[in-house]
Amino acid sequence: MTNALITGANKGIGFEIAKELSGRGVTVLIGARDEERGRAAAERLGARHVRLDVTSEDSVKAAAAWIEEEYGTLDILVNNAGVIVPQDDIRPSATPLEVLRATYETNVFGVVAVTNAMMPLLRRAPAARIVNMSSGLGSLTLGSDPSSPYFDLNLMTYNSSKAALNMVTLAYAKELRDTTIKVNAADPGYCATDLNQHTGHRTAAQGAAIAVRLALLPGDGPSGAYMDDEGNIPW
Ligand SMILES: NC(=O)c1ccc[n+]([C@@H]2O[C@H](COP(=O)([O-])OP(=O)(O)OC[C@H]3O[C@@H](n4cnc5c(N)ncnc54)[C@H](OP(=O)(O)O)[C@@H]3O)[C@@H](O)[C@H]2O)c1
Repeated sequence: MTNALITGANKGIGFEIAKELSGRGVTVLIGARDEERGRAAAERLGARHVRLDVTSEDSVKAAAAWIEEEYGTLDILVNNAGVIVPQDDIRPSATPLEVLRATYETNVFGVVAVTNAMMPLLRRAPAARIVNMSSGLGSLTLGSDPSSPYFDLNLMTYNSSKAALNMVTLAYAKELRDTTIKVNAADPGYCATDLNQHTGHRTAAQGAAIAVRLALLPGDGPSGAYMDDEGNIPW
């Protein structure tokens, strides 16, 4: 039996990842910070939910303890929970530090907190997979290329949080390179979800596809990669 924890899986891309993995026979654990939203999403899939606010150390610890007690091991961790903290003026020079901190709490520190708490369970699985939901907006190469559509999307808080997440992904992949665990970053593309007031041109289900692929990678698959549906993305 393969099990998977998806953070922020009560809606959007996370829910679609949960749905797809569940359809493929994986025992899915819907991570949700709100009990009711988590339960409702889990009921829709016939899955289980676990209360998990990635910014709360107590919540992360409790979720890890519960998974350990119920399953003893974790095969797949998808660090999907992510935020764009609203800002009236997105210029870097007008960015309040609290907006930057709140963004990093979820998009960067939350990923490290959850990954570290789950690591003993992941190490016990025969070949665990960690997928971090990044974004093409975290690419330094694309962000510095005037011909890239990302060049003018200069949202410092979110973009830099995803660039940091990319390096976090690489760091874990290097630490774990002599194990069977693979750690990769996924870019779902621009998907219509609450995150962007449904302005994306792709569906959440389309965005979920690359995460599902990386969650189910075979033994000869990559680790320390940054990928979308088309293949590798420049860092
Ligand atoms: N949509 C896009 O175009 C796009 C593009 C590139 C990357 N991404 C990334 O894809 C991931 C999913 O985004 P989405 O578009 O599906 O956004 P979404 O619909 O807004 O969903 C975000 C999910 O994260 C959860 N979340 C937020 N803060 C959390 C916390 N502290 N603890 C636990 N869960 C938390 C939300 O829970 P609540 O319901 O409780 O708020 C929700 O379930 C994010 O990492 C995002 O950065 C999205």
